[in-house]
Amino acid sequence: KEIFLKDYKLPDYYFDTVDLSFSLGEEKTTVYAKIGVVSRVDGAASPLVLDGVDLKLISVKINGNELKEGDFNLDSRHLILTSPPSGNFILENVVEILPHKNTSLEGLYKSSGNFCTQCEAEGFRKITFYQDRPDVMAKYTCRIEADKSLYPVLLSNGNLIEQGDLEGGKHFAVWEDPFKKPCYLFALVAAQLESRNDTFTTCSGRKVSLKIWTPSQDLPKTEHAMYCLKAAMKWDEDVFGREYDLDIYNIVSVPDNIGAMENKSLNIFNSELVLASPETATDAGYAAILGVIGHEYFHNWTGNRVTCRDWFQLSLKEGLTVFRDHEFSSDLGSRTAKRISDASRIRISQFSQDAGPMAHPVRPHSYIKIDNFYTVTVYAKGAEVVRMYKTLLGSQGFRKGMDLYFQRHDGQAVTCEDFFAAMRDANDADFANFLLWYSQAGTPVVKVTSSYNAEARTFSLKFSQTVAPTPGQPVKEPMFIPVATGLVDSSGKDMPLSSVYHDGKLESVTCGGQPVYTTFLRVTKGEEEFVFSDVPQKPIPSLLRGYSAPIRLQSDLTDNDLFFLLAHDSDEFNRWEAGQILARKLMYSQVFNFQKTNALVLDPQFVHGIKCILLDSSLDKEFIAKAITLPGEGELMDMLEVADPDAVHAVRKFIKKQLASELKQEFLNLVKENRSSEKYVFDHTNMARRALKNTALGYLASLEDEEITELVLHEYKSATNMTDQFSALAAIAQKPGKARDDALADFYNQWQHDDLVVNKWFALQSSSDIPGNVKNIYKLLSHQAFDLKNPNKVYSLIGGFRGSLVNFHAKDGSGYKFLGEIALQLDKLNPQMASGLVSAFSRWKRFDETRQNLAKAQLEMMVSTNGLSENVYEIASKSLAV
Ligand code: ARG
Ligand code: ZN
Repeated sequence: KEIFLKDYKLPDYYFDTVDLSFSLGEEKTTVYAKIGVVSRVDGAASPLVLDGVDLKLISVKINGNELKEGDFNLDSRHLILTSPPSGNFILENVVEILPHKNTSLEGLYKSSGNFCTQCEAEGFRKITFYQDRPDVMAKYTCRIEADKSLYPVLLSNGNLIEQGDLEGGKHFAVWEDPFKKPCYLFALVAAQLESRNDTFTTCSGRKVSLKIWTPSQDLPKTEHAMYCLKAAMKWDEDVFGREYDLDIYNIVSVPDNIGAMENKSLNIFNSELVLASPETATDAGYAAILGVIGHEYFHNWTGNRVTCRDWFQLSLKEGLTVFRDHEFSSDLGSRTAKRISDASRIRISQFSQDAGPMAHPVRPHSYIKIDNFYTVTVYAKGAEVVRMYKTLLGSQGFRKGMDLYFQRHDGQAVTCEDFFAAMRDANDADFANFLLWYSQAGTPVVKVTSSYNAEARTFSLKFSQTVAPTPGQPVKEPMFIPVATGLVDSSGKDMPLSSVYHDGKLESVTCGGQPVYTTFLRVTKGEEEFVFSDVPQKPIPSLLRGYSAPIRLQSDLTDNDLFFLLAHDSDEFNRWEAGQILARKLMYSQVFNFQKTNALVLDPQFVHGIKCILLDSSLDKEFIAKAITLPGEGELMDMLEVADPDAVHAVRKFIKKQLASELKQEFLNLVKENRSSEKYVFDHTNMARRALKNTALGYLASLEDEEITELVLHEYKSATNMTDQFSALAAIAQKPGKARDDALADFYNQWQHDDLVVNKWFALQSSSDIPGNVKNIYKLLSHQAFDLKNPNKVYSLIGGFRGSLVNFHAKDGSGYKFLGEIALQLDKLNPQMASGLVSAFSRWKRFDETRQNLAKAQLEMMVSTNGLSENVYEIASKSLAV
């Protein structure tokens, strides 16, 4: 059943207080709920509809009186109280649930023997009958009763107010959360865990007890997470003036969980996002932990204190919180490198979503299952939308807007318009049609042409923009796009900008006598012109600096202009971007060569450009690593009329190998110069050094060369941390053969006791481009370490397979068949995970007829399967509909 944003109605009943009591058992769990109900409208007593899934109703009472058949209706998804009393009343109900049989990983379930919960978005209805919607906010208490030896630790939200022992080896704890919250933020954990303890003193002097809970043997691996938590708490005070509001903050690490969850004062994390040690986690893993620990912490204000009115507003909390975690990671690491990664993610994953059947706006208009909308559009494009406010208002204006947002809406469940209004009102800003970013799906394509008039000393930029139709939105309006622009002179320096005329009107001038080097052009129409005056020589425009809007930009810059910007632009993001555009152009032209003649060539000017970057010691090493990395195959496929994975793969592989061979000495030097035998440190300098060394190693390993084989093997054996060890393993694994088999076996032997490392081992093999790899994946499915119930393993082995475009899109359909079969199996266990995999099929129309038919057959097979989940149904049917 499809749900629409336009149908939103206020609830007829609010819930004021919720007292829960859990009796946790091995066979069944009993949940007692006592709810203080307040009716919103006086008089009219409309039916009270409670959500409930997989619950066995034992009893239901109103004001202490047990309801009889006829007083309520019960179906597989609801309990409807047909004629509740008017005014306020107390609703009590008792249900039984079966956590050990719950493989969906939502609601209350068992993870490795422990009880834990995941309620967002709609899991609370698997715990008790409730109005499972975020605009119903209540104060909770939670009493937990369980066997003491099996579950010595009993946690829920808020403060621990009582605990004690009970008969029969049981014990109990009572938690009270003083803050009103929607039920999706409820959490409970009953487990055998130990904690790393620390404290943080907030800016106003509140001493907060911090605890990170894991099985005892993993405690040493929580040091980094604790560092991240404290850094996040401090950062939110410094940058946003947001202070933590309770005396306790718990984080629990579990092996089976969809990711991480910001439950009030009881975050529950997948262990992959908590546990790290130099020997077992890579730099990327350390960075992900920083980002996600920050993300969940930042939700305490953006999500918990101010929450969403309904799930269409998901980006209100997720876009904003992703933006905050991106800023946090930038401030603690390298801003440019972080911006490059985030922009790449938008362009690779989000643009591709925008161009397919699941395209939806940052605030969707409708959904069948909200789980399918925890997307890169809602999260990452949503974060770009928030970033644009900051770009338009400046740091101080943005902060004023945030302050007003919290001042107005603390304790409320609100909408994206409320956020917009706070930003606008705090700054008296003119945001034109900015709200379209929330309602219009699709990626704006902006074309720019430039011209210089030497006589008039003017430089003109003409913009035109279009947004392609998306499902349900055939006609689009022009968007409000801030384009950060600088003009670079022939010496490579930024020109001071004095004045810009926009459609003939003077728009911006120097700021308080200070020269301005980057200006933010406000592009709002289908076509318009900006003219810079007093421009003494023909400049090269540096457009969309820092990736100031999530758009596709097509400019008339020549290759020479781009090589120039690659070498000189003061905006590092645009230096990188210039290199990427050049690489894409080059790869694009070679794809046609390959299709016609199978013959490939590499432009010497490109090799020279890469070489200059490699040798420029003034550049940040992480930047160099990113700048010499070729655009991915997916990006290139997007440029083609008909996606051709074989050609794209052959071209990228050829260019990589050619660069390796022409710059072999330079790469060898980089490896040697950037080795270190010192203790692992997670900081920007060291990470950047490792990134550059390992990127160079990856290039070298593409060569057929004895000396290199030795070198890579040596790097593998001498590595003292996982970043280096795994990079070397990946380098060896590029080519099939004995060296590869031996290294993979060796790695497994060394790490078989550590699930998180074994997951990397799965992912490396599943995403491999070696020919016919699907056979290996079938084998790995029955590997003793694989488990279809564990999300990490599924993402590693099955999700990873989608990463190899040549193998997933194999022309014989073997990749499609594999994914289709496994998705259906998984759908019976965990529909959310299954639909995540099925989305890999969504862009089937991009391919040739043979592939189209093969992919379509899989989608058709799915929709005709009996008992298919709504989750998979939504993705598969929408994919077929285009
Ligand atoms: N709110 C969580 C986060 O982003 C994610 C919850 C994911 N839930 C889901 N059903 N996919 O921090
Ligand atoms: Zn989030």
